[in-house]
Amino acid sequence: MLVHRPPMGWNTWNTFGWEISDSLIRESTEAFIALGLKDAGYQYIVIDDCWSKKLRDPETDCLVPDPDKFPHGMKSVSDFVHEKGLKFGMYSCAGQRTCGDHPGSFDHEFLDAKTFASWGVDFLKYDFCYKPHGIEGELLYRRMGMALRASGRDILFSACNWGSDNVWQWIRSTGAHMYRSTGDIFDNPESYRRIAVSQLDKLGASAPQCFNDVDMLTVGMYGKGLVGSEGCNDADYRSQFSLWCMFSAPLMLGCDIRKMNEETRKLVTNPDLIRINQDQEARPPIIGHHPWNDKLLILFKHLDDGTYALGVFNMEEKEAEVGVTFSDYGLPASAGYDLAVRDILNGGEEETHREYMRVKVGNHDCRMFIARLVKR
Ligand code: GLA
Repeated sequence: MLVHRPPMGWNTWNTFGWEISDSLIRESTEAFIALGLKDAGYQYIVIDDCWSKKLRDPETDCLVPDPDKFPHGMKSVSDFVHEKGLKFGMYSCAGQRTCGDHPGSFDHEFLDAKTFASWGVDFLKYDFCYKPHGIEGELLYRRMGMALRASGRDILFSACNWGSDNVWQWIRSTGAHMYRSTGDIFDNPESYRRIAVSQLDKLGASAPQCFNDVDMLTVGMYGKGLVGSEGCNDADYRSQFSLWCMFSAPLMLGCDIRKMNEETRKLVTNPDLIRINQDQEARPPIIGHHPWNDKLLILFKHLDDGTYALGVFNMEEKEAEVGVTFSDYGLPASAGYDLAVRDILNGGEEETHREYMRVKVGNHDCRMFIARLVKR
């Protein structure tokens, strides 16, 4: 299976946790289309944990959808999602039970992969709770990687071991297409920043076919739902979404998309941000900091058409003015080029800067630019 670009979609967990159902999936899929998410490039509708009965079928040993939540079975939900031109994702776990205490796929990998394939599943998130002692986690991801390939269907393998066992060193070898590299996100500024900053030195291991997944977005949750703690403001959501884009991370929305507001819709469908995220070279950004304040972060990313993405992030509690010195990113004063930058969040005319530029950034906020070289 070829996964050239970071996968984009929606996952049930952040908002709904175990309160999922056939009707929720259908309503959310309808909203997904109506909001223009499909047109913007989002593709996957993913059901996370707690979709199954507490025990396997005693005769077939297969996983069984909870009939109270999914009275028409999974194939029917999957068909609905496919009829809308989208792809269908589900969840299981490498251990004996899932994190929400439902049967996991340990020692049932090949059977479960076949079951998922028979339901038309296109994406499998594979978690890491209840791993038996004495068995290496890496081996369990290898097993499911092979089981999915043997299932007879192209299924995107989304590993989720939260960065354990130096996952970035071996995960690509298991056949996984994306991998969670941190613990769970919560909807507060501290949480998304901690996740982002912890990955700055690991982004070089993320590339087409196997992307570093910094977790489902909390953008647009405003504190509501399962992982909604104190919530974030729109400046934080701009920063979170822009960081994920600069990282070429999978964009899995986690808010209640049936209730998405216009501000969120505009942000998550911003064509320039999505273009940066989906850039086919998926290079890690060059990382720059303010000389004495590492809460002011500068990211500079090569794009496939010869332009660059520049992001300036202010994790302080007050407005800041950040100097971006072009020579830090490969453009010395002697080069004979200036940088023309276009502000992709606020719009306006392109501006040309020589050697450096100063960028005003509100607290918790970010500024995002597309830059190109211009000969003097
Ligand atoms: C783990 C994962 C989460 C979610 C839950 C479900 O915590 O990291 O993303 O899938 O399990 O129980």
